Amino acid sequence: MRKQWRLAARPEGIPDASHFDLTEVPIPALEPGKAVVKTLYLGVAPVMLRYMRNETDFESPLALGSVMPGRGVVQVIESDCDSLPVGAIVQARVGWQEYALIDTSDRPAPFLLPTDLPLSHGIGAVSLSGITALIGVREIGLVKATDRILVSGAAGGVGSHVAEIAKALDAQSVVGIAGGPEKCRRLTTEMGYDRVIDYKNDNVDAALDDAFPEGIDLYFDNVGGSLLDNVLGRLRRRARIAICGSISEYLVDLKDKHRFVNLQNLGRQDAKMEGFFVFDYEQAYPDCIKTLADWVRAGALNPVEDISEGIETMPQALADLYLGHNVGVRMVRVGAPDLPFS
Ligand SMILES: NC(=O)c1ccc[n+]([C@@H]2O[C@H](COP(=O)([O-])OP(=O)(O)OC[C@H]3O[C@@H](n4cnc5c(N)ncnc54)[C@H](OP(=O)(O)O)[C@@H]3O)[C@@H](O)[C@H]2O)c1
Repeated sequence: MRKQWRLAARPEGIPDASHFDLTEVPIPALEPGKAVVKTLYLGVAPVMLRYMRNETDFESPLALGSVMPGRGVVQVIESDCDSLPVGAIVQARVGWQEYALIDTSDRPAPFLLPTDLPLSHGIGAVSLSGITALIGVREIGLVKATDRILVSGAAGGVGSHVAEIAKALDAQSVVGIAGGPEKCRRLTTEMGYDRVIDYKNDNVDAALDDAFPEGIDLYFDNVGGSLLDNVLGRLRRRARIAICGSISEYLVDLKDKHRFVNLQNLGRQDAKMEGFFVFDYEQAYPDCIKTLADWVRAGALNPVEDISEGIETMPQALADLYLGHNVGVRMVRVGAPDLPFS
């Protein structure tokens, strides 16, 4: 039998256990062209709340009673698919369940993970969190050695990688914004940030004035809203803003969303603001994973992971993102590999 979490109700605000049902069903039988996989780790992402509310194109319509969508690190235990051999450790779209039947038709398709690193990194540093940070800094942010860089959501899953990635690409100094003294301490001691702003306790205007007296060259934005507007008013010439996410706005009604007043500054400063979606960069994954894994092996990238035990903890793991309780990549350890892998 396998446990799986199904959507039970659509949340108005932060989800809790009442929005999910934990059910047990038989482990699926192998089908032609497919593979049966065992889940080792499951990731959570802010966007999952939007799946639950039917607010995205790529997982909607998500009917009540559906298995919660999501990606994880899995081991192939039975296979009728050449690219998913038995024993392989793969990052795949499996849903919130202990076993699944997968094939290669999903986009992004399942991808092989490096097995000399902790398998949990297949949720974070050498997977979509790390790739998102790398694409945002390098392709969208066009990072330069002399950039004065600011990152919001800096202690989160994506943000915890950004400073070290920017420095591996020759940046000199990176400032991070996060909520609370403990997160801010860990930004400097574990995540490579040079300077921090605690937006829950500091005067953010004064702290930005102090950290960026000449303005900001590169802003990696995970939160959107009023902070993004504030940064728009502080851009240097030819600045770049990489719009990774806007978590501060995901639970806000349309009528209450932030109304921007500093957008004109983009034109005035010859600056650019560009969004991106990591699923659109699937062709680049093998190269990104190799780069990120090499940085981890060399000690240039030090993943910070926030792991709870057991599939039962999935709803709390998702809520933690919106409660600000995670430091680094929030994930759940679901099972251990059954078979040898190399
Ligand atoms: N572009 C892409 O392809 C892509 C891919 C993955 C993720 N994303 C986006 O990137 C962002 C980061 O994702 P993640 O997976 O790494 O999640 P994450 O940053 O770990 O998200 C949780 C953190 O967000 C912060 N947060 C929660 N509510 C907030 C609010 N109202 N205002 C400000 N901060 C708030 C909290 O940190 P504090 O305690 O510091 O507030 C919390 O710990 C999200 O916006 C996500 O949607 C985009």
